[in-house]
Amino acid sequence: MIGSYYSSLSFFLRTIVLLLFSILNLFNTFASLTPDLCHQDQRDTLLDFKNELKIQKPDEVLDFEGYPMNVTSYPKTDSWTNTNSDCCNWEGVTCDTSSGKVIGLDLSCSCLHGRLEPNTSLFRLQHLQTLNLAYNNFTFSPFPAKFHKLVSLQRLNLSQTSLTGQIPTEILQLTSLVSLDLSSSFSFSPSLLAIESPLFFRLLAKNLRSLRALDMSGVNISFEIPHEVSSMWSLRSLRLEGCNMFGEFPNSVFLIPNLESIRLDHNPNLRGYLPDFLINNSLQILSLVGTSFSGNIPDSIGKLKHLTSLTIQESNFSGKIPSSIGKQLQCCNITEFPEFLRDQANLQTLDISNNKIQGQVPNWLWRLQGLEVLFLSSNSLSGFNGSLNPLPGSQIDVLDLSSNAFQGPLFLPSTVIRYLFASKNNFTGEIPPSVCELTSPSILDLSNNNFNGSIPRCLETQMMTSISDLNLHSNSLTGSLPDIFTNAERLRSIDVSHNRLHGKLPESLTLCSALEVLNVESNEINDTFPFHLSSLQKLQVLVLRSNKLHGMLHHHDSSVNGVWFGFPQLKIIDVSHNDFSGALPSDYFMNWTAITSKKDDDYTQQVSYIGDFHDYGYYTSVVLMNKGVSMAMQRILTIYTAIDFSGNRIHGQVPESIGLLKELHVLNLSRNAFTGHIPSSLANLTALESLDVSQNKLSGEIPPKLGDLSSLGWINVSHNELVGPIPQGTQFQRQNCSSYEGNTGLFGASLKDICGDIRESEIIESSSEEEEEEEEEEKLCWIAAGIGFAPGIVLGLTIGYIVASYKQE
Ligand SMILES: *[C@@H]1O[C@H](CO)[C@@H](O)[C@H](O)[C@H]1NC(C)=O
Ligand SMILES: *[C@@H]1O[C@H](CO)[C@@H](O)[C@H](O)[C@H]1NC(C)=O
Ligand SMILES: *[C@@H]1O[C@H](CO)[C@@H](O)[C@H](O)[C@H]1NC(C)=O
Ligand SMILES: *[C@@H]1O[C@H](CO)[C@@H](O)[C@H](O)[C@H]1NC(C)=O
Ligand SMILES: *[C@@H]1O[C@H](CO)[C@@H](O)[C@H](O)[C@H]1NC(C)=O
Ligand SMILES: *[C@@H]1O[C@H](CO)[C@@H](O)[C@H](O)[C@H]1NC(C)=O
Ligand SMILES: *[C@@H]1O[C@H](CO)[C@@H](O)[C@H](O)[C@H]1NC(C)=O
Repeated sequence: MIGSYYSSLSFFLRTIVLLLFSILNLFNTFASLTPDLCHQDQRDTLLDFKNELKIQKPDEVLDFEGYPMNVTSYPKTDSWTNTNSDCCNWEGVTCDTSSGKVIGLDLSCSCLHGRLEPNTSLFRLQHLQTLNLAYNNFTFSPFPAKFHKLVSLQRLNLSQTSLTGQIPTEILQLTSLVSLDLSSSFSFSPSLLAIESPLFFRLLAKNLRSLRALDMSGVNISFEIPHEVSSMWSLRSLRLEGCNMFGEFPNSVFLIPNLESIRLDHNPNLRGYLPDFLINNSLQILSLVGTSFSGNIPDSIGKLKHLTSLTIQESNFSGKIPSSIGKQLQCCNITEFPEFLRDQANLQTLDISNNKIQGQVPNWLWRLQGLEVLFLSSNSLSGFNGSLNPLPGSQIDVLDLSSNAFQGPLFLPSTVIRYLFASKNNFTGEIPPSVCELTSPSILDLSNNNFNGSIPRCLETQMMTSISDLNLHSNSLTGSLPDIFTNAERLRSIDVSHNRLHGKLPESLTLCSALEVLNVESNEINDTFPFHLSSLQKLQVLVLRSNKLHGMLHHHDSSVNGVWFGFPQLKIIDVSHNDFSGALPSDYFMNWTAITSKKDDDYTQQVSYIGDFHDYGYYTSVVLMNKGVSMAMQRILTIYTAIDFSGNRIHGQVPESIGLLKELHVLNLSRNAFTGHIPSSLANLTALESLDVSQNKLSGEIPPKLGDLSSLGWINVSHNELVGPIPQGTQFQRQNCSSYEGNTGLFGASLKDICGDIRESEIIESSSEEEEEEEEEEKLCWIAAGIGFAPGIVLGLTIGYIVASYKQE
């Protein structure tokens, strides 16, 4: 299933992110200097630091929403040369005017690239009070521990530096800090796992008494924030967006007297409510998008004199919004089409999405000659008033009708529409031929409606010239997927999932040289595996789930082109619930290059989404099974990888070459007829988070080395013929008992832990009495345990979840 997402909310968020960014930058402005101050040792240290790193122009920097940030980088250290001896004049360097010691270093956005080593010469600049390294690329090097050596540090900004690993607790020794920014726009760490977050925050509150600004957005906190945070009375700005926080947010934080800005967006599991007592009077910005805050919006909020922005979309507030703050809200609960617009002949863009407008779209709207961009999404509109012929003068270029209650045929007011979003309505009848009259459509999203009939062949012309994304998922379309893709050079994504298409996949798909995503899930396509698509150099996602596909999953003869499979860029393949059969050759996974390794320097590519940045926030999305549930990824991260072959009739051994897929996150081979052992090479898959081989005929032991895979948070080996001990790793102990059931020969102390604490004395350590043991263990295994499942600790999938949950409407 595929959907599209657009909302003006994103624009708003982007704006505030930029705004905040510029506010934080204010902290980092330094005074200029007088010449001839520089100390030799300070200069040498600076040059050493410069030489530790390379300069590399970064690609676009993305904000938390995945939008490009307006960050301009250039190599500041280029001005650091021996010939210009006064290092106090070097760009980004500030010296103390009397002592000449370097007290400030602002190398933000300086194109620095390379590892920040634990022994970096930076730590020799002992007089530093301000250090800003934001927006550089330290290539996922571990967060150096020794920042506490910089004892005078007052402002530290390591935002967007792609440091990884744990945030060292030593940082909490920097008791002079007034501003600490460790945010990263994607939850790629640093994470706090070394020390549990509540303790970290308690120490932080205790030690960093002067802290005024704290930003740890994107850091995986995954715990409750302790109430001690509210003792940080110096705090003015608290930003913890996308931190995967749980539990109840301590609302005593709202009592911090000078707190001006609180941003807790995108923490879906964070509960809380706004207290009814008078919140501190300084609050200017309160943002709770995508949290589980609930209850009423108390009147006390309305009394906040300085409040400029209150953003609460996608949280659970109920009740009435106090009239005192109505004017400050983004959306205004309009229920009727605003008549005054009639006279706005020069109006170019109209965004009245996210209101409660009912009834018909008035005909006069299309006569506004200036109107080019029209957002009507997320209202309760049900139809169009007046003639349903395109109006000759209409210039509408962007039309967003999604998430309304439109019924009947789709009406296109203009022939120059390039971006058409009509998803989540109840449009019926055939896809109107007027779609084929659009002069150069780029995105056509008609998903989640009730269109019937076949996909119009006349779209072939538009395919050739302009269409980049075709989304028809969840309709009632019949017939076959027509052969209209000849020369569809711009086509990036096709989603026709959840329809009733039959027949074969068209040959012309082979010619879509730009295609990245093909999703035909849940149709009735009766064909063999489309190997001819392996010529598509950009195809990253192939979803064929739940069709009538059959035959082998590999070329009969690898000598044809030297590979069994092909598809150089494929990262997500889901062929589950078809009728594929045959055995897989043992070197089957050779040349699955995109899952075998990630390119070291390809940092930005890895933290972006498939489809890159499209106009109007359209992303291709996909639903995949993971950890036993279907996971809706409203955007597909380019680093996400998954192989789902489940529910077919594949037999033979699991190819040993699976061990080559070092970047694989999800592997599902369940419900097939695999025999032989679980390959020990699986232990090489250090990125693996979820492994399901249940319901096969696998025998032998579970390779003990699998116990070392720390990211493997979900394992299911049930209903096979496995024997021997369960591996020792903690991840194995955390599984639900049902992950092991139906294997008569599995045993081990850990199985006892998992499957219930009974008859401890009967656990037999020696393997000499195997028969007896097997019987015993089987009993143990069937007893449900009270151990909850703890999710994997690697963050990759968590991102998927976060994105999925806060984008769901
Ligand atoms: C830091 O340590 C590495 C080895 O771990 C060494 O190669 C490098 O020269 C050291 N750098 C400095 C600045 O001491
Ligand atoms: C399509 O739906 C319309 C009304 O919803 C119906 O009248 C028509 O018969 C349907 N056409 C097909 C081919 O099912
Ligand atoms: C697929 O098509 C073939 C012939 O075209 C037919 O024999 C077969 O029954 C079809 N399979 C299914 C599952 O419908
Ligand atoms: C693997 O696939 C099967 C069948 O499609 C599904 O039931 C199961 O939940 C999947 N396993 C995981 C871990 O998602
Ligand atoms: C697994 O990794 C080890 C060490 O890196 C290597 O020797 C072995 O060949 C790998 N196995 C496979 C199947 O990739
Ligand atoms: C493991 O797989 C079996 C069979 O596929 C299923 O019944 C069981 O619920 C699964 N266990 C978990 C924890 O998902
Ligand atoms: C184990 O999984 C089964 C099915 O997936 C579920 O019904 C049961 O509640 C789970 N047990 C525990 C302890 O999580």
